[in-house]
Amino acid sequence: MGDSHGANATLQWSLIAHRRAGRETWQAPPIAVLVLGIETSCDETAAAVVEGSGRVRSNIVLSQLDEHRPYGGVVPEIAARGHVLHLDRLIIRAMAEASLDFADLDGVAATAGPGLIGGLMVGLTTAKAIAAVHELPLIAVNHLEAHALTPRLGQSLAFPYLLLLISGGHCQFLMVEDVGAYRRLGTTLDDALGEAFDKAARMMGLPYPGGPAIEDAARSGDADRFDLPRPMAGRPGCDFSFSGLKTAVRKTITDLPGSPPRARDVADLCASFQAAVADVLEDRLGHAAAAFHGAHGRGGALVVAGGVAANRYLRQRLAASAARFDLGLVAPAPALCTDNAAIVAWAGVERLRHGFTDPLDVAARPRWPLDPEAKPAIGAGVKA
Ligand code: KG4
Ligand code: ZN
Repeated sequence: MGDSHGANATLQWSLIAHRRAGRETWQAPPIAVLVLGIETSCDETAAAVVEGSGRVRSNIVLSQLDEHRPYGGVVPEIAARGHVLHLDRLIIRAMAEASLDFADLDGVAATAGPGLIGGLMVGLTTAKAIAAVHELPLIAVNHLEAHALTPRLGQSLAFPYLLLLISGGHCQFLMVEDVGAYRRLGTTLDDALGEAFDKAARMMGLPYPGGPAIEDAARSGDADRFDLPRPMAGRPGCDFSFSGLKTAVRKTITDLPGSPPRARDVADLCASFQAAVADVLEDRLGHAAAAFHGAHGRGGALVVAGGVAANRYLRQRLAASAARFDLGLVAPAPALCTDNAAIVAWAGVERLRHGFTDPLDVAARPRWPLDPEAKPAIGAGVKA
């Protein structure tokens, strides 16, 4: 690996990043650092190559949805087997689409947690093998950090920013202060938001994953028809809870005529559910924004990331809520919100620039909170 094209040169360029008035002004390095990313933490097998400039050279995602759909959720053993079967082929395709050999890379990044341990081990072990054979730096990526840094992929978003991470496993407000520096402001006490979407959809007879199904059905629904609760609204702090909302959806369905419920009723319930979720997010955002402004001054960005951030209704509502609290909303393209390997490769680029690489014996971690100081939340359903 020559210096003009290697990690050392890249690190020199990271010094271009500097701080002005407490806010970093970030410039992409002009040299084309190249990182292969691998994602296998849940039910997507994915490989991608990303440049330091933010250009995505290839991004291949193989969804296992069809395998898991009959079970209404992800079955860990089926997921791990799927990754074993397909990962090698996907990596070869990602490299071919990027027109690269392994020797052209500057690093290999793989999700090392949090997630399903079988899948994590498949991806991380594969990355270790590539790193060992081709003498490349290995970057063990926290999946949450990959979501957290995604808005900087292809855009010059400066640190710090407020992050709302809403995915199948998580629902958290974090202050993103730098690469590797996160402070959690609040998290869910029970279900993650994506999980709440998936469970509500299942109760209504909609397919898995529930988020896109609810969003589709809600388009023709009346959001004022059902009066659903807004859990935690009005309470201090930035924590979430969705179990009460889920119970209310179940009770509403039981009280409806017809089984399965009629399409009109499902549409109205989906719209009412989304409106309740948006109201909760707005209420909690008020507290998170106050904490962010207290630490970093007025203004700044609210970044929304994770699978649920693909929801267009929630994005619109969040844009209005963010403006109300003196924040500008930044949302990655919907295709980068749901799980993929470009976001892992990008986290690899950012970590490599800081010199954060990992030894070949680094272990996969099913639980891996971004903020090590944050106390575990009540309830066992959350991964961090
Ligand atoms: O980030 P992600 O792909 O995987 C995890 O890291 O969890 O998020 C998956 C979650 C699922 O619960 C799915 O239902 C939800 O994101 N989701 C959505 C939408 N698209 C995916 N939720 C609401 N609206 C959507 N359009
Ligand atoms: Zn994710």
